[in-house]
Amino acid sequence: MKNILVTGGAGFIGSNFVKYMLQNYTYKIINYDKLTYAGNLENLTDIEKHPNYKFIKGDICDKDFVYRTIKESQIDTIINFAAESHVDRSILGAREFVITNILGTQVLLDALKEFKLEKFLQVSTDEVYGSLPENQREIKFSEKTPLKTNSPYSASKAAADLLCNAYEHTFNLPVLITRCSNNYGPYQFPEKLIPLMIAKALDGEKLPVYGDGKNIRDWLYVEDHCSAIATVIHKGKDGEVYNIGGSNEWYNIDIVKLILSKLGKSENQIMYVKDRPGHDRRYAIDSTKIQTELGWIPRYSFENGIEKTISWYIENENWWRKVMSGEYLKYYEKNYSGKII
Ligand code: NAD
Ligand code: TYD
Repeated sequence: MKNILVTGGAGFIGSNFVKYMLQNYTYKIINYDKLTYAGNLENLTDIEKHPNYKFIKGDICDKDFVYRTIKESQIDTIINFAAESHVDRSILGAREFVITNILGTQVLLDALKEFKLEKFLQVSTDEVYGSLPENQREIKFSEKTPLKTNSPYSASKAAADLLCNAYEHTFNLPVLITRCSNNYGPYQFPEKLIPLMIAKALDGEKLPVYGDGKNIRDWLYVEDHCSAIATVIHKGKDGEVYNIGGSNEWYNIDIVKLILSKLGKSENQIMYVKDRPGHDRRYAIDSTKIQTELGWIPRYSFENGIEKTISWYIENENWWRKVMSGEYLKYYEKNYSGKII
């Protein structure tokens, strides 16, 4: 492994991963990203001149350009982060999710076959497993849990996972899949829970909590996700799925209250809004396999990770103000205006 194509490397997790790899390894990293609303080259300004880094603006659905990039940059490994990633947007319109998440993955898998690459890692999500019961905390998602998707986003990610399995099985290709729980940390687009609530709290605005606020997510600091992917690409067994999580379940409402209290703000800012349609109740990952077979462990406690994250958003106000303008304002109006109770 020498030259890695990181697709979606200008997004939240992708940009953190590019930096993680440049800091810890000597591979050449080619960041291939379409720069949708979620892709932002400002996430990468500190490493843009790094000798082992190159950015290429491109769409994973564009077969000719993907193939040209692989040839010209002598790519031997693909790590696919590129995706439409927000459940609420997938409810407003599923088409882009089907195009990028499914057809885009198919193009990359064909490239893997055509160029006989060394490795392909699909960055997937725990959401492909559906929803867990709230009151049976001993039940968690294992790699053997059947796929049962509930949102257009998770359905498109599961379809991509199934394509990965099919290419691995039919063509005997070196494919790995990781399925991670909810991430948080620097550079997360403030349409997702934690950065949205930090931004709203700082601005003294209302914090929109869906339903009763008792949905549960299992939060992992983004750098721990990056180290897990690096572990899987180096030590994972072809054809295997690895779940990644921090055993860190929180009710949404408790996360929101924690953010308010850390910022010294009042809980009066909380505004319960109409629930997300089809809202999954609980996610929780069992990451025994990656921990015991590959020796990965998360480094960040939630206390530590959330402190770092809140500090980052306080110190990088310009970053989030910029991305929360323009197209974002139209989306916010569309998603939330019908939800105010
Ligand atoms: P993100 O929305 O922040 O970033 C996605 C990136 O993909 C953006 O830079 C965007 O420009 C790029 N992109 C979109 N369509 C593209 C296309 N057709 N061609 C090339 N680039 C394209 O997403 P994220 O939160 O960083 O998630 C990255 C990956 O991790 C996704 O595959 C997501 O499903 C998965 N994942 C995310 C989480 C999470 O909590 N955020 C958890 C588990 C798994
Ligand atoms: P989100 O960050 O969109 O991630 P996902 O839906 O992929 O888990 O949402 C995390 C949780 O927070 C989810 O249960 C929905 C809830 N949520 C709110 O209550 N209000 C909001 O404004 C948003 C964006 C999310």
